[in-house]
Amino acid sequence: MDTSLSRFICGIPKCELHIHIEGTLEPELMFKLAERNNVNIPYNSVEEVKKAYEYSDLQGFLDIYYESARVLINEEDFYDLTMAYLVKAHRDNILHSEIFFDPQTHTSRGIEFSTVIKGITRALKEGEEKFGISAKLIMCFLRDLDENSAMNTLNTAMQFKEYISAVGLDSAEIGNPPVKFKNVFEAARQYGFNCVAHAGEEGPAEYVWEAVNYLKVNRIDHGNRSIDDEALIKKLAADGIPLTMCPLSNLKLKVLTDLKEHPIKRMLDLGITATINSDDPAYFGGYINDNYLAIAAALNLQKDDIIKLAKNSFAASFLPQDKKNAFIALIDAYSKDN
Ligand code: HPA
Ligand code: ZN
Repeated sequence: MDTSLSRFICGIPKCELHIHIEGTLEPELMFKLAERNNVNIPYNSVEEVKKAYEYSDLQGFLDIYYESARVLINEEDFYDLTMAYLVKAHRDNILHSEIFFDPQTHTSRGIEFSTVIKGITRALKEGEEKFGISAKLIMCFLRDLDENSAMNTLNTAMQFKEYISAVGLDSAEIGNPPVKFKNVFEAARQYGFNCVAHAGEEGPAEYVWEAVNYLKVNRIDHGNRSIDDEALIKKLAADGIPLTMCPLSNLKLKVLTDLKEHPIKRMLDLGITATINSDDPAYFGGYINDNYLAIAAALNLQKDDIIKLAKNSFAASFLPQDKKNAFIALIDAYSKDN
């Protein structure tokens, strides 16, 4: 790719909508926290960790991701984790980020919900002051657990409602269809939360339909398999339901074998509000700019496509319209000068 396009990509103001805070745990911080908290981890060096980060599918990744999350114990750990992400987000010119966290990953190990959310939100507040990054939190339910556990998590979260913008659904997709969480999403919607769900990453287009029809989501996370279903693509375009796509994640989890197969450009051309995000950057080999650069190279994207993707990222956010407009105006100003 020519260097002027890569420079343009790196500098463009952008928004991240699909980032798991636990997925930003870099090996170096994992070692530091393991030592600080006296937690045994099955690795002796950063090189050994990096060698282990080869996955044959989503479950192969999740096994390692949950194992590594055990080093997160105290409020300070969640603060350090989040602050390290914000430093990288700032470097990549992210101005707004909507961040997933997985409370059940921690409460199931005896960590208090309050410990998790206090650590994360303290870092977000500081990130706003220091870097000017605005942020929202999305609480994800683990879909391999039952709906009761999700409902208990929702009830616990109500004490911290002011810090949470939306609920989401992640973890092992196949065999755990969105409809399993119909009631808890209904309750979350009644409480005023926005709703998103991972769907169509490994699972079929049918799961995307379920997320739309039963969970009434505002956005779909991943949604790759939507491309298999013409009627679904028409529905997503007509209803303005965005997709938060993650190219390097798709490659590492073998959702596709080559980025050249990635459907994002076809989706843009079909009128879908598709966006680029990093998912679990510490595990998949790249933050948001790496994702933009990799997909631009694979699909021969041009400056106009990058502008579209960056604008989509703000348009698809949960920001109020006036803030979206202000960020989009920044992209127009940047594009004129670069
Ligand atoms: N897919 C599903 N669940 C997840 C992921 C993902 O890519 N990352 C963290 N939890
Ligand atoms: Zn994800």
